[in-house]
Amino acid sequence: MSSKKIVVVFGATGNQGGSVIKTLLEEPSTNSQFEVRGVTRDASKPAAVALAGKGVSFVKADLDDKSSLTHALKGAYAVFALTSWGEIMDKEREIQQGKNVADVAKEQNVQHLIWSSLPYVSKISGGKFTKVLHFDSKAIAEEYIDTIGVPATHIIPGGFYNYLLYFLKPTSPGAKSYKFCAPFPVTTKLPVFSVNEDTGKYVKAILLNREKVLGKQVYIAENHYSMIDIVKTLKEVGGLDVVAEEINDATYRKNLAAAGAPDFFIEDMSDNMKFMQSYGYFTEKQAEEGRELVSQHLETLEEWVAKAPEVAALKGLPVEGIKEGPNIY
Ligand SMILES: NC(=O)c1ccc[n+]([C@@H]2O[C@H](COP(=O)([O-])OP(=O)(O)OC[C@H]3O[C@@H](n4cnc5c(N)ncnc54)[C@H](OP(=O)(O)O)[C@@H]3O)[C@@H](O)[C@H]2O)c1
Repeated sequence: MSSKKIVVVFGATGNQGGSVIKTLLEEPSTNSQFEVRGVTRDASKPAAVALAGKGVSFVKADLDDKSSLTHALKGAYAVFALTSWGEIMDKEREIQQGKNVADVAKEQNVQHLIWSSLPYVSKISGGKFTKVLHFDSKAIAEEYIDTIGVPATHIIPGGFYNYLLYFLKPTSPGAKSYKFCAPFPVTTKLPVFSVNEDTGKYVKAILLNREKVLGKQVYIAENHYSMIDIVKTLKEVGGLDVVAEEINDATYRKNLAAAGAPDFFIEDMSDNMKFMQSYGYFTEKQAEEGRELVSQHLETLEEWVAKAPEVAALKGLPVEGIKEGPNIY
């Protein structure tokens, strides 16, 4: 029997969990002491099949089904858990999924739960922005985890680089020139990072520094960038024809509605953007503390833009390897 500690990874077939598994397998410091157990609802998914080919064992479980989690977490030393807002779009259900994994982690005596959380917007803003359901839900689950006493560390991921591209609008239908439109000043700096390359580096550092980070939040960002910075990189490195433009809240809402967002989510995102402008998502100091913990090279925006198939596709080049989308969330 293996003497390695078992790390259960939710979202194994997705961005964050996929990155965690990649790092834990590739890095000698983690591969030597941890065994990865991936969680999926469907082991026939191509991403699960590919990981199984690399020796990852999979267990079938569903965050909505608490009984399935008992089997998934049996014997686990650590758990990386996240929820998928884009799939559920329901605050109470997202909170319950977090509570389910927390309860079972406690029952199974898990030594380290790493929870993918987000800032508690209602609380931080003193009740000013109360509609950012997909942030508050994760933060409420975070509080529950701490309340019931599961040893835990919470990651607070910044925006994903690929998510930035959803702010690009063609200047006319079908055009290959774009406006980068967001409802805040073009100089407002926000934290972003490469979810696929770098989530795993943070989780690795958290696992290897358990005592230091228990009960703490770890903020994930390669850097804070403004719309001006992003557009400059998209132009100079990505070769895109793009300008930055501050739009008002009404136009932002109209764009979301045109992309098919339901009313409650338009409210959520509108409040979210106001929160971003007022509070910067999270601070540069918090991001710096996270980077100090990792002390590894993080993929820069320039590096990501240079290789991202999503950017090439915006220029009209035929490319492969783009994930299904668009996901406006
Ligand atoms: N976009 C951004 O900039 C940004 C920034 C910070 C945080 N976030 C948050 O990141 C989350 C999405 O993360 P991601 O991009 O890594 O996810 P993703 O690539 O969309 O994948 C979702 C993963 O979650 C798993 N999953 C979904 N529902 C599940 C359930 N009921 N039980 C078990 N597993 C389940 C899926 O596994 P199977 O399908 O294989 O079962 C899949 O692996 C969202 O909640 C979002 O709010 C996004």
